[in-house]
Amino acid sequence: MYIKGLATNKRRLKVIEQRQGLIESIRKKFMHVETCPFEGDRIFFENAGGSLRLKSVVETSALYASYPDNQGRENDASKSLVRSIENGKAKMRLFFNADRGDVIVGESGTELLFRLIRTAALELQEGGAMLSSSLEHPASMSAMKKWAKNTQRDHIIVDHNDESGSIDEKDYIKKLTSDVRVVSIVHTSPVTGMTVDLEKIAKEVRNVARDCIIIVDGIQHSSHGAIDVQKYDIDGYVVSPYKMFSRHGYGVAWASDRLCTLNKEQLVGGPSQNWELGTRDAGSYATFSDVVDYLDWLGSNFTESENTRERLEASSLAIKSHEQELLNLVLNGTKDTTGLRKNKKIQIIGTSDSKFREGVVSFFQKNKPSSIIVEELRQRKIRVHIRKDDHYCGNILGPLNQKDCIRFSICHYNSKAEVVAFLRAINEISAN
Ligand SMILES: Cc1ncc(COP(=O)(O)O)c(C=O)c1O
Repeated sequence: MYIKGLATNKRRLKVIEQRQGLIESIRKKFMHVETCPFEGDRIFFENAGGSLRLKSVVETSALYASYPDNQGRENDASKSLVRSIENGKAKMRLFFNADRGDVIVGESGTELLFRLIRTAALELQEGGAMLSSSLEHPASMSAMKKWAKNTQRDHIIVDHNDESGSIDEKDYIKKLTSDVRVVSIVHTSPVTGMTVDLEKIAKEVRNVARDCIIIVDGIQHSSHGAIDVQKYDIDGYVVSPYKMFSRHGYGVAWASDRLCTLNKEQLVGGPSQNWELGTRDAGSYATFSDVVDYLDWLGSNFTESENTRERLEASSLAIKSHEQELLNLVLNGTKDTTGLRKNKKIQIIGTSDSKFREGVVSFFQKNKPSSIIVEELRQRKIRVHIRKDDHYCGNILGPLNQKDCIRFSICHYNSKAEVVAFLRAINEISAN
């Protein structure tokens, strides 16, 4: 688990908040950490809806928005934009640990999931089936449904486990057939917060349908743990930068060599390898570079390694262990403050102490609408989000016969003091 250069610092890894000044240094790098520009003081536990933005991203965004020049011209401005794109692509490769294939910028995570799935469905051999799971966000589910229908293939759904709020390779084995051509997998559910064992699932999928194209929705996972596409044996991996410290307006994906060789939508006569349509926004590449630079800096607090990828992995381990401490705290409380698991009025969605939980605890109170709880938390200056049995979350809430729930979601810049403040507020609210 520990990477080269990191082993000697194993103990230091555990403790973002015990490292002198580190949590403060982390928080200083983000915008609007303690104060909402519209409502004033608040604690931010709506990270699954969109993370806090890095200050560097905000500065870079403004700068790139100000440049009038276009790419492909013989002047310094134009050449600098092209360099930013190349640099951004190199950083994206490091982030995904991608030594092959290509990295792509699109309109959003949803758009990229649609594009990769559509490309695979339209270009692979006719017939067979496409396979998704009920744990997935509607982004991949809708794309799979539409393109299975449009290419006259069966659409097989693997059921997740309602109780655990997750899915594993055994669930996939029940539904896999050798003629499956495209598989979509969600790395982490944005509703239950459960992450899946991607390597194990992909391995079982390949055991049965060796040549299928596997597309992964990593949008919820990306801010909580490392991504390593070399390890997973998949063909596509999609993230949304606004959920990982950047901004709205673009999505990023990695596509395998195999996926890249399929015919894609392109300008007639244009370069066949290009995924991007139209003029690229150098600002999106530059702001993604800012995110990778930030993770690199964070990792450098935990390893002396001179290798950037190793520092990125170190940042991910530090993030994971800090977030695990925050999750333990919200679930189990302190000696003075009851945790969610012990609060008799509250029901947690999914196995409450699962080691697969990443960043999210969704819960509800049987006798009180979630909308009222969200509002009462807002009045106490704590921001969380309601999730409803609608086209976004009905796949999780419908089978539980639950109309809505409250989603509490953290990132590594949240502190233990903030979690305790949340617990005090929710305990007061649920007692009334
Ligand atoms: C797991 C997952 N997939 C897809 C999406 C959609 O992403 P985007 O808003 O970038 O299109 C979300 C957004 O909440 C998500 O959490």
